[in-house]
Amino acid sequence: MSSSPWHHRIPPLLRRHVLPFLLLPLLPLAALLFSASAPNPFVSSFGCVPDLAISFFLVPSSLISLSDRSFSPEVADTDIWSARRVVDWRPCVWWENASLPALPAKTNGYIRVDCYGGLNQMRRDFCDGIGIARILNATLVLPKFEVAAYWNESSGFADVFDVDYFIQQTQGFVEVVKELPEEITSREPFRVDCSKRKGQFDYVEGVLPALLEHRYISLTPAMSQRRDRYPSYAKAALCQGCYNALRLNKALAAKGSALFKAIPKPFLALHLRFEPDMVAYSKCDYPGLSSTSLDAIEAARGDRKSWTGDAARTWRNRGKCPLTPKETAFVLQSLKIPTNTTIYLAAGDGLLEMEGFASVYTNVYTKSSLLTGKDFNLMHGNTKAALDYYVSINSNAYIATYFGNMDKMVSAMRAANARYRTLALSRRAFANLTALGLEGVELADALWRSHREDFVMGRGTALPDCFCESTL
Ligand SMILES: *[C@@H]1O[C@H](CO)[C@@H](O)[C@H](O)[C@H]1NC(C)=O
Ligand SMILES: *[C@@H]1O[C@H](CO)[C@@H](O)[C@H](O)[C@H]1NC(C)=O
Ligand SMILES: *[C@@H]1O[C@H](CO)[C@@H](O)[C@H](O)[C@H]1NC(C)=O
Ligand SMILES: *[C@@H]1O[C@H](CO)[C@@H](O)[C@H](O)[C@H]1NC(C)=O
Ligand SMILES: *[C@@H]1O[C@H](CO)[C@@H](O)[C@H](O)[C@H]1NC(C)=O
Repeated sequence: MSSSPWHHRIPPLLRRHVLPFLLLPLLPLAALLFSASAPNPFVSSFGCVPDLAISFFLVPSSLISLSDRSFSPEVADTDIWSARRVVDWRPCVWWENASLPALPAKTNGYIRVDCYGGLNQMRRDFCDGIGIARILNATLVLPKFEVAAYWNESSGFADVFDVDYFIQQTQGFVEVVKELPEEITSREPFRVDCSKRKGQFDYVEGVLPALLEHRYISLTPAMSQRRDRYPSYAKAALCQGCYNALRLNKALAAKGSALFKAIPKPFLALHLRFEPDMVAYSKCDYPGLSSTSLDAIEAARGDRKSWTGDAARTWRNRGKCPLTPKETAFVLQSLKIPTNTTIYLAAGDGLLEMEGFASVYTNVYTKSSLLTGKDFNLMHGNTKAALDYYVSINSNAYIATYFGNMDKMVSAMRAANARYRTLALSRRAFANLTALGLEGVELADALWRSHREDFVMGRGTALPDCFCESTL
């Protein structure tokens, strides 16, 4: 897997017949939105599972090929971005133009947020931490971005984000300091780990006593919180801190900008998520894959056995299974995205089965194809992820195949910047429609209708609490 061809610009592998609808120019257009997305793909509701290895949910390749067909006439005249939006998501007025109560004169203590995982997961937790610090009338110190063995990574917060800008933009929302007061600097914080707490978690009950006692705590936010109980100034701090105060530091922004400039315009940033760990975590079975891919997935699987039999089919129909690159290409074609569209792959190096995509979409760029040299080779996972983030929030269009942490963050920032050509593909619609036996043009038409509806109605979006629906 070491010298994958996706490190380079993908040459036109196969020139397909350009379908009539593909000749239409991309109309400059309205808005975005995504389809329903399951809250947590890793949490299942299955108790026990019959151990039947039947792969009836496999979609044979021949059913998802469109090379020599065209769409039915009534849907053949526009691309997905041309659909007129009825509902947009915008930053809510209550935080963008909030009139805030004064910050407490006396702090209840100092909080450091300890963040783990990939860049966007760490950012998500830090954002929660900003709100928590405000609820507790505490002072925030800069977070600790953990060195994650998995990502082979050493970037801290200041290596990614602009610290001074963050402090400036959060003024009045929450108190932030770069340095701890002297009487505390010598101490390690008292550790409060909320990440494993089950159920809804109340920070005033759960954390304030420790904060008052120790004066300096480190905190890893819980997955689920009683945000409904947050006073509005705490929610405003979270929203402002997360969506108006975090920008890449100068060095990374310059790299991001250089990368952005190198990509031909206009372009679509595509976040494909078909990597061994993702497939293994999803517990989905993909019997049609190459043996190289299957080996890589098996190696990442650990004790996570994939679902089989009825359970596997139900799981898939609930939209739990990542789209393969080939399926992704089919859905994009169904959305009338021309196969010569310039596509920036916002993804790591571990993608599997890319041939299935690159044989249809032939203008694909990656960061390693565009940025070369020592500088780039020395970049770590977090800083590389930051480049994908930068390009994705600035691209003409953004499509996610899986609505994960990065996709939520990117979609939110795009909404904040009024970039509405944003869409998450519906894994559920794809699974359901293929399970019904649809194929070829029929399948493409049905996918078009379901994605168009989602896009127009702004339905099922998982944009976080800081965004409000706005009817056009
Ligand atoms: C894609 O093909 C169409 C029709 O041939 C052409 O007008 C358009 O310029 C092409 N776009 C790109 C990015 O090559
Ligand atoms: C928020 O305030 C800004 C600046 O005063 C103003 O331009 C904008 O219209 C306000 N937004 C809303 C939604 O009221
Ligand atoms: C924070 O301060 C506000 C008023 O300044 C007060 O109403 C609230 O109870 C305080 N909360 C905590 C957790 O100390
Ligand atoms: C982690 O990074 C170091 C230095 O950047 C490198 O030498 C090492 O091979 C990397 N390990 C893995 C597992 O990628
Ligand atoms: C998917 O299929 C299930 C059962 O087959 C059905 O209940 C559900 O409504 C379908 N969902 C969509 C989005 O089509």
